[in-house]
Amino acid sequence: MAIRSIKELAFNGKKALVRCDFNVPLEAGKITDPNRIEASLDTIRYVLAQGGAAVLCSHLGRPRERTPDLSLKPVAEYLSNALGHKVNLAPDCIGDITGRMIADLALGRALLLENLRFHPEEEANDRDFAHELARGKQIYVNDAFGTAHRAHVSTAGVARFIAERAAGFLMLRELEALRALTENPAHPYVAILGGAKVSDKIGVIRNLLTKVDAILIGGAMAYTFLRAQNETVGKSRVEEDKIDLAHDLLAEAAKRGVAIVLPTDHVVAEAPAPGPTVAIVRHIPADRMGLDIGPETVAAFVARIRDARTVVWNGPLGLFETPEFAHGTLAVGEALANLDGVMSVIGGGDTAAAVAGHPWAARFSHISTGGGATLEYLEGIELPGVKALEV
Ligand code: 3PG
Repeated sequence: MAIRSIKELAFNGKKALVRCDFNVPLEAGKITDPNRIEASLDTIRYVLAQGGAAVLCSHLGRPRERTPDLSLKPVAEYLSNALGHKVNLAPDCIGDITGRMIADLALGRALLLENLRFHPEEEANDRDFAHELARGKQIYVNDAFGTAHRAHVSTAGVARFIAERAAGFLMLRELEALRALTENPAHPYVAILGGAKVSDKIGVIRNLLTKVDAILIGGAMAYTFLRAQNETVGKSRVEEDKIDLAHDLLAEAAKRGVAIVLPTDHVVAEAPAPGPTVAIVRHIPADRMGLDIGPETVAAFVARIRDARTVVWNGPLGLFETPEFAHGTLAVGEALANLDGVMSVIGGGDTAAAVAGHPWAARFSHISTGGGATLEYLEGIELPGVKALEV
C-alpha cells in the first residue's frame, strides 16, 4: 500500500494536525540542538502557504504526567522566530480551551499543542484520546519520522479519525534515504557500526548481514567482538553475556561472505575520565581500556569505504564526547563525507550529534533525525507511524 505526500492534498481552508518530532535536547529550558525543529519547517511552511492552518503536536521527553520542565514552550518560541508569526502554545493537546484556540486559528497560521505525553493515553494508543485529538482537524500530516517506531495515538491511532492523511517532507526524505539502503542498494555496500552495546544492534547486524558486503565495527561494542576472537581487551567495556552471540554473528558473516572489520589498534587510557593520559596500542594492557579506534584502524576503515557505493553509519567509533577519544569518529566521518559517488546515510542519535557542527557534515547524502526509528527500520521492522499513513 502507498502513502501520500502532502503535495497530493489540498490544504486551502482546512485545519491540519501536523505531528512533528520536537523531542529536542534542552538545558536549563534552552534548546541546545534545534535540528529536529528545523527539519520540519518546510512541511509546516507548505501547509500554511497552501492556505491551511497547522495544529502542531509533539512529545518532549518521557513524562508520565504534566511536568513543567517538559513543556513545549521553548519550541513555541523557536517556531515563532522561524515562521515569523507568533505561534501560541495551547495549554493542553485536548480539552475545551485548546478546542477554542483551534477553532479561532486563522488560516496561514500555526498553533502548537502542549506535550502529548502529559496524557498517559497517548502512549497507550487510547481510542477515546485519539478521537479527542482528531477533533476539529480535516487533515493529518505525520512528519515525525523520529517517533515513527512508536504506535502511539499521535503517530498511529489518530489517523483512523481524520479523513485525509499524508506524510510530510521530512518523513518522505527519511523514507527515501532509508529505502535506498534496503531496496536495491548499490554495491559495494558497507555498514559502519559503533556505540556502546552489541545488545542494541543485534537485530540491525542480523538484517545487514543479508544486505552488505562489509561491516566495520568500532565503539565499545568492538571489544565484545574482539573478546569473541580471544583478543585481550584489558579493562575495556565488554558485554560478557553477549560474547557467544558475537561469536555466532562472526560465524554467520563468514558463512555469508560478509567481511567484518574489527579494530587492530586502539587509543587507550586508564579510565574514560576527562584529561586522560592516552596511548596508542595494538594489544590493550590489563590496566587500560580502549576508548577510540587507533590510526591504523582509521586507515583500514577509510580504505573500505573509499570503494563503496553505499555506506550506512550508526554509532560513534569512540567516546567522542571526550576530545582525546573523538579522533576516530571524526576522521572516518570526514573521509566519508568527502567521498564522491557514494550514498552515505548517517543513522541519527549519537552519530548525528558526533558529526554536528563540522562543516563537512553537510556533505553526507542524508543525516537521519531518527535514533530508535532508524535502527528499527534497519532491522527490517515495519514502523507503525508509516503503516498508519497507508491509504
Ligand atoms: C527519539 O528521540 O528517539 C524520539 O523522539 C522518540 O522518543 P522516545 O524514545 O521517548 O519514544
